[in-house]
Amino acid sequence: MDTASQTAQVSVEGVWKVFGRKAREARAMAKEGASREQIQTATGSVVAVRDITFEVAPGETFVVMGLSGSGKSTLIRCVSHLVEPTEGRVEVCGTELTRADGATLRDLRRQKMAMVFQHFGLFPHRKVVDNVAYGLEVQGVERQERHGRARELLDTVGLEGWGDHYPQQLSGGMQQRVGLARALAVDPEVLFFDEPFSALDPLIRRDMQDELIDLQLKLQRTLVFITHDFAEALKLADRIAIMNDGTFVQVGTPVEILTSPADDYVRAFTQDAPVAKVLQACTLMRPLDGASIDPGWPLVSMTTPLEAALPHLLGSTSPVVVCDEQHAPVGLLRGEDVAGVLSENRG
Ligand SMILES: Nc1ncnc2c1ncn2[C@@H]1O[C@H](COP(=O)(O)OP(=O)(O)O)[C@@H](O)[C@H]1O
Ligand SMILES: [Mg+2]
Repeated sequence: MDTASQTAQVSVEGVWKVFGRKAREARAMAKEGASREQIQTATGSVVAVRDITFEVAPGETFVVMGLSGSGKSTLIRCVSHLVEPTEGRVEVCGTELTRADGATLRDLRRQKMAMVFQHFGLFPHRKVVDNVAYGLEVQGVERQERHGRARELLDTVGLEGWGDHYPQQLSGGMQQRVGLARALAVDPEVLFFDEPFSALDPLIRRDMQDELIDLQLKLQRTLVFITHDFAEALKLADRIAIMNDGTFVQVGTPVEILTSPADDYVRAFTQDAPVAKVLQACTLMRPLDGASIDPGWPLVSMTTPLEAALPHLLGSTSPVVVCDEQHAPVGLLRGEDVAGVLSENRG
């Protein structure tokens, strides 16, 4: 085992998922290079995930992005073991899920991993606070303690005072916040998100994305996040995997994907994405590395959208200084780096 897989929090190796009876035939055809459609016509089976391998480091946000039907949900269900992969190996927090017995899996689900879905999946007859506390209740935490923790988490996700309401009294965005609070309640190391914001209105979606970024800066959990929205992927990801027809066509940082798209499928996304709106100064800055700073250079924060930093860079040869929350300089944003990312972008 190499060092990467020893430290990876999520490790996926050669995972396949074939739906239908003729899995073996379907897999053989796929290995010969047949498309999903050809295989389905010939065997009636669907190769939803084909031979996927990746690792996610502790604290990393790994986003899987692809069009509807590309196999994203099936993949994340294989990784969280809600679905048994047809072939391959999955390890989460050092436990090999593909070999674990029922009790081990149950413990892992209760303590170390949590899932947030598109359609909230809240219990309608339980109050919000009891929805959030559910995982703790299952762990046997007594009522007062779990309610205390649940109310703290409701504050964290901006729902202070809503604990005694029922889910249907809340808007979609608020219900998704409850879903997030519920997932965080058991203090999991790994969180799986399957298009959690896709059903929300654009403005609320943007709020939720910002909040997830803020939370993640504090919590530093390992996130595997599924989306069909490339802009959302750019905004949230440390690394993005672009998925098509059951496989990853490219895996890289947002900047890598924007500056060297692997093929036309990826290029189509990069050209139309609102890059200047969603990429933040911290994504494109270069570390300071002891460089001296001219007091005349403009300052921006790490989360400043590129768009807002651009006016400082246009027509100027000086960089912009990127500062952390304590206003300490941490990096420099340079015109040429920004131009490289925006050169072919039409968004
Ligand atoms: N339980 C299932 N039985 C048969 N086919 C399925 C099942 N779940 C998903 N599929 C098929 O697998 C493919 C990938 O689906 P899915 O993982 O839901 O994609 P995505 O989440 O990217 O939209 C689709 O062709 C879908 O119809
Ligand atoms: Mg899906």
